[in-house]
Amino acid sequence: MVKRNWILGAIFTLIIFYGVSACAPPANLPTGPTPIPTLIPVTDVPDITKPTQAPSFAILSYPVRPPSSNEGQSIYIENCVDCHGEDGSGAVPGSRNFQDVDYMRGETPANFYAAVTEGRGDMPGYNDTLTSDERWDVVFYVWRHSTTASILEHGDEVYAKSCASCHGEDGSGELLGSANFTDLRQMDQLAPRDLYLTVTQGRGSMPAMQSLLTQDDRWAVINYLRTFSYDPTLPQEIGVASSVGETPTEGPSETACQPDQTNQFEWDDSEAIFDGQATYLIQCAMCHGPDGSGGLPNTPDFTTAEISNALIENPGQSYCSVSEGIGVMPAFGGALSEDELWQVLTFMGSLGEP
Ligand code: HEC
Ligand code: HEC
Ligand code: HEC
Repeated sequence: MVKRNWILGAIFTLIIFYGVSACAPPANLPTGPTPIPTLIPVTDVPDITKPTQAPSFAILSYPVRPPSSNEGQSIYIENCVDCHGEDGSGAVPGSRNFQDVDYMRGETPANFYAAVTEGRGDMPGYNDTLTSDERWDVVFYVWRHSTTASILEHGDEVYAKSCASCHGEDGSGELLGSANFTDLRQMDQLAPRDLYLTVTQGRGSMPAMQSLLTQDDRWAVINYLRTFSYDPTLPQEIGVASSVGETPTEGPSETACQPDQTNQFEWDDSEAIFDGQATYLIQCAMCHGPDGSGGLPNTPDFTTAEISNALIENPGQSYCSVSEGIGVMPAFGGALSEDELWQVLTFMGSLGEP
C-alpha cells in the first residue's frame, strides 16, 4: 500500500513535471483497443417518484476494504481540486456542486465512479491514472461533501433506535430479504432518494417510517446507513466522526436475562399499553400481525386467552425471548430499552380475550 502510493506519487510528479496540468485532458492517447465510453444522460431534475436509472456502465472492480473518504482527500487535492474547488462546490463552469444536497440525493456512487473512470464533458477519465481503489476513495471523498459529522451522528442514533433490530447493529442483517448495507455491490446503485422512498413508504414487511420519523431523521439515517459501505472519517473531524461508522455501543439490556423477573408495569397501565402499542406497530407487527393474532408462521396468537395468560403468568420468559431473540425472531435487547420492552409486552398482554 505504502509502496504503491510511493510509485503513484512518482507517476504524478512525472505527469506534473511534464507540464500536464490537472485541468487538461490526459496527454497520453490510448494504445490498445479502448472500449467506447457509454453515454450517460445528463442528470434529470430529481423526481422522487421514479427509481433512479441504473448506470449503463458495468463496474467490474470493487475494493476489498470499504472506500475511505480520508484516503480520497489527497487524491482529490492532487487531481480534482482545480476544477471542483476546495470545498467541492465547483470551480470551473459546468462542474457540479457536491454540497448541493438536492443534486446529491439523486446521484449514486456507481454513477460517480463511472464518471471518474470514463470522464464526462470537459472532465478527463482517470481509468489510466488512478487505480480502481483510488477512484472509489475519491468518489467517497466527493460523496462525503453531501453530509456532515453531526448529521451522521444523529443518523447513528436513529438507526440504533428504529432500524438495528431488523437490519443488525452493523447493517449486515439480511432478515426476510432486507439488503445488506455493508455490501457496496448492493448499495452503490441506490441513490439517497431511492432509500428515502423505501424508508418513508416501507416495503414488503418493512414498516413505513413516514409518521414515525421526521424528514430530517429519515435523511440523517439514510446518510448514516451509507457509512456501512464506506468510511466517512476525515482527518479534520476525527474527534467527532470516529464514532461514526463504527458498531454502536452496546444496548442497555446486555446483561444475562433473568427469566424469573416480573413486569415493571401493571398489566392494565393504560399509558404503558399506549406506548407499547407504538413500539409494537414499528417493531413487531410485521411478524405478529397488526392485531397480535400472528402473521409469520409459528407466531403465537396473542389474542387468545391461553397465550396472553401465559405471557402474564410468566412474563420474564417472554421478556428474555424478545430481548435475546428466539427462532427467527431477532433480539431486541440492543434496540429497545428495558422500559420499552416491558411496555410492548404489557400491550401484548392486553390483547387476549378476557
Ligand atoms: C478539467 C476539469 C475537471 C477535473 C480535473 C475533474 N473534473 Fe469532475 N467534472 C468536471 C466537469 C466540467 C463536470 C460536469 C461534466 C458534465 O456532466 O458535463 C464534472 C463532473 C464530475 C462528477 C459528476 C458526474 C455526474 O454524473 O454528475 C463527478 C463525481 C466528478 N466530476 C468527480 C471528479 C473527480 C473525483 C475528479 C478528480 C479525480 C474530477 N472530477 C476531476 C470537471 C473536472
Ligand atoms: C421490522 C423490521 C424492519 C425495521 C424496523 C426496518 N427495516 Fe428496513 N427493511 C426490512 C425488510 C424486511 C426489508 C426488505 C423489504 C423487501 O424488499 O421486501 C427492508 C428494506 C430496507 C431498505 C431497502 C434496501 C434496498 O434494497 O433498496 C432500506 C433502505 C431500509 N430497509 C432502511 C431501513 C431504515 C433506515 C430503517 C430504520 C429507520 C429500517 N429500514 C427499519 C425490515 C425492517
Ligand atoms: C421477524 C419476525 C418477528 C419479529 C419482528 C418479532 N417477532 Fe416475536 N416471535 C416471532 C416468532 C417466529 C416467534 C415464535 C418463536 C419460536 O417459538 O420459535 C415469536 C415469539 C414471540 C413471543 C413469545 C416468546 C416466548 O418465549 O413466549 C413474544 C412475547 C414475542 N414474540 C414478542 C415480540 C415483540 C414484543 C416483538 C417486537 C418488539 C416481536 N416479537 C417481534 C417472530 C417475530
